[in-house]
Amino acid sequence: PIKNLKEGLLSVISPEESKEAASFDISGNESTVSITVVGASGDLAKKKIFPALFALYYEDCLPKHFTIYGYARSKMTDAELRNMVSKTLTCRIDKRENCDEKMDEFLKRCFYHAGQYDSQENFADLDKKLKEHEGGRVSNRLFYLSIPPNIFIDAVKCASLSASSGNGWTRVIVEKPFGHDSESSAALTKSLKQYLTEDQIFRIDHYLGKELVENLSVLRFSNLIFEPLWSRQYIRNVQFIFSEDFGTEGRGGYFDNYGIIRDIMQNHLLQILALFAMETPVSLDAEDIRNEKVKVLRSMRPLQLENVVIGQYKSHTKGGITYPAYTDDKTVPKDSLTPTFAAAALFIDNARWDGVPFLMKAGKALHTKGAEIRVQFRHVPGNLYNRNIGTDLDRATNELVIRVQPDEAIYLKINNKVPGLGMRLDSSHLNLHYAARYSKEIPDAYERLLLDAIEGERRLFIRSDELDAAWSLFTPVLKELEEKKIIPEYYPHGSRGPVGAHYLAARYKVRWG
Ligand code: NDP
Ligand code: BG6
Repeated sequence: PIKNLKEGLLSVISPEESKEAASFDISGNESTVSITVVGASGDLAKKKIFPALFALYYEDCLPKHFTIYGYARSKMTDAELRNMVSKTLTCRIDKRENCDEKMDEFLKRCFYHAGQYDSQENFADLDKKLKEHEGGRVSNRLFYLSIPPNIFIDAVKCASLSASSGNGWTRVIVEKPFGHDSESSAALTKSLKQYLTEDQIFRIDHYLGKELVENLSVLRFSNLIFEPLWSRQYIRNVQFIFSEDFGTEGRGGYFDNYGIIRDIMQNHLLQILALFAMETPVSLDAEDIRNEKVKVLRSMRPLQLENVVIGQYKSHTKGGITYPAYTDDKTVPKDSLTPTFAAAALFIDNARWDGVPFLMKAGKALHTKGAEIRVQFRHVPGNLYNRNIGTDLDRATNELVIRVQPDEAIYLKINNKVPGLGMRLDSSHLNLHYAARYSKEIPDAYERLLLDAIEGERRLFIRSDELDAAWSLFTPVLKELEEKKIIPEYYPHGSRGPVGAHYLAARYKVRWG
């Protein structure tokens, strides 16, 4: 089932209805969707895009008439593309008996066209092939730019000039990184807008497609109990934590130009923060939601150097195994100062959040893998139980944890009486554990986002003014870190990261959850 949020309705339509609706344009003519994965030979296409497209097909969410084209420079036949793609497809959502049959059907709809990213002629050849498949129907075209950012503009130019739809919509999904700082991001937007309108550009941040991130607004705005607490009056601090238990293996070349602040904080964590802290939107319409996100981002103070701690992982030997340092990667310069870890304290200067620290922590090669939001509430004023039985103050405050991944959950730490004749309190969890509550597996973020792009739903994509606001918070500090060549604090591969993160939190009387 697909959610129809266009008019603020939470209605559910059957896959068949949806498929039928998507197969006709507004005047009732039969239509078709052609999806071109530009950079189809690459890692993201194999790992995420083709599997997500198959999952949508398997769930009957793609329109009746659709074709998928892989486009890249590598020479490949249709059969070779299908063979490559088939290795990463799974019927993981619900293992129906006809899985193999569905895969075969899907693969028959996948084709490959080899071409250069800066060749209008090569894209014109693709256009001819797409037209053959479209068979005279209204043609809608989606291009997914799964290529390095230095070739985005060439590809957009050629795709838009030579392979745009003549009678339907043309949309382009752009992958991050959207620039390197405020100036390069603005330049990228300007170049994209030479060939596309803002409505045609779908800037993807796959964290917005994660189930628990999407649920944030539902949690806040459809439960009476949370919204009244959602302010400086009751909330002491909020933490956004991302950690990976592996290094930059295989992506060191890309990563060294960006670092963890650009890779994770400026986009994934900041997007979550915006959804967490924004005011109630006028409606669930994409523009209303994005207006509120921009407003809250604009109310934030640009991050200051004194509120940042950076780190880089060094090699570590454990149990006879040596885990490499970041700079052991052959594609990373030996003297690189690029941070693989950062902690930051941010502030929102508005009436709701004045003085509340919003802490972020993101790191690679740490001891654990996960992403979560932690909301620490204030102390109970004059708490009887602290006075009478001396409960540890810190443990006694409530904490709401939204575990985005893995093992999705939302739990609220409350103080509770330990059953028995005595009066002893402990901190227990009111726990919504997704695996226990819902039997259906959670779809991958890319599935939701691809479906939204096909349906023209922009709610989960980044608008250009949002992007500008996000960059303006981080650009000054990034420049300062780089100009002053600030040396990161080194932490062992597989550890909890630099101790500096604890000092930063302590300055704001916060203990990391
Ligand atoms: P790749 O490096 O695998 O590149 C994709 C394809 O682009 C390659 O197969 C290659 O195809 C072509 N290509 C690579 N380098 C160049 C070059 N210098 N000049 C011209 N063509 C080149 O990228 P990914 O698949 O890892 O990522 C694609 C996009 O998605 C990037 O923007 C990345 O930042 C972003 N991204 C990736 C993630 C991931 O997990 N991989 C996660 C989040 C975002 P061919 O040689 O056949 O033309
Ligand atoms: C990407 C980053 O955007 O997100 C990667 O570039 C990171 O460095 C990845 O590993 C994490 O995504 P997920 O969905 O695996 O948490």
